[in-house]
Amino acid sequence: MKTVTMVAPVNIAVIKYWGKRDEELILPINDSISGTLSTDFMCAKTTIQASPQFKENKFWLNGKEQNFDSPRLDSCLKEVKRRASPSCPILNWKIAICSENNFPTAAGLASSAAGYACLVAALAKLYKIEGDISSIARRGSGSACRSIYGGWVQWIKGDRPTGEDSIAIQLAPVAHWPEMRVLILVVNDERKKYSSTSGMKKSVETSDLLKYRASECVPKRVEAMKEAIFRKDFESFAKITMEDSNQFHAICLDTFPPCVYMNDTSHSISDVVHTYNECKSSNRVAYTFDAGPNACIYLLESETEEFLSVINYVFPPSSNTGYLKGLQVRQKPINK
Ligand code: PMV
Repeated sequence: MKTVTMVAPVNIAVIKYWGKRDEELILPINDSISGTLSTDFMCAKTTIQASPQFKENKFWLNGKEQNFDSPRLDSCLKEVKRRASPSCPILNWKIAICSENNFPTAAGLASSAAGYACLVAALAKLYKIEGDISSIARRGSGSACRSIYGGWVQWIKGDRPTGEDSIAIQLAPVAHWPEMRVLILVVNDERKKYSSTSGMKKSVETSDLLKYRASECVPKRVEAMKEAIFRKDFESFAKITMEDSNQFHAICLDTFPPCVYMNDTSHSISDVVHTYNECKSSNRVAYTFDAGPNACIYLLESETEEFLSVINYVFPPSSNTGYLKGLQVRQKPINK
């Protein structure tokens, strides 16, 4: 019997990935950039056991047994085994995978990113494969490739139809910008209405704006974002982050039928951020929303206390209005 355990964090995109050019290999139509959170904050943990005694492969997620015949799981497993040495003694043993997330699964909180990054990292350790594994994690869930690295990460879309150049690279380690913090404002932790997979497929099929975004906007934004990160220019970083989130949700509305991920509370949070920044006469706080209503807030350490007091004032945890359901705020540095 052989056992391995790995932990992988979620990542929060500041330039969003939205739209695939190849559904099976999970090749994106644009580059994306994210910050990887620390593993003690929101992460997935995966243990894999391999044994010659096991009769079949098994997979549990958060304590519930899952169907092992998932095309994405199969794709990751096949690719890891293809890269393993043919003399690896456990290559033909059956495996049991046990994964858990310490945060809500599929609520637009990047659970699949952490989950597949963790699974692939554990498989790579089990079968002792070397080299970049981000292109394997990508086959599980596109954004998972970015969780393979810590700090600031770019997923380069690549050009080849086979996808070997569609990989993640680290732009800067977490130590480059140690003052950076992320708050997650949990508006709703239920499963999202439409998966990102079905949402982005519909956007590719129906949104004209998406083509404009991929060809005209994102390439310029990626360069500007890299510059902002390298120079630790929070003002520009915040502006680009919010503009990109807004454009992504505009595309979701331009999709037919539309994918509505943000709700009234999400929009109120965005208003609070803009009002806060106006009062400060500069962008001190940036919001970004993924495929769900929860807000991810990037800000510098020096700003957290004041911004949190504003959030607690506008959305009092004990308020009877029922307006903001289950707001949770957590604060941690992004980390490796
Ligand atoms: O990797 P997926 O299929 O869960 O897609 C993630 C898409 C967004 O979270 C909305 C954006 C991103 O780049 O993470």
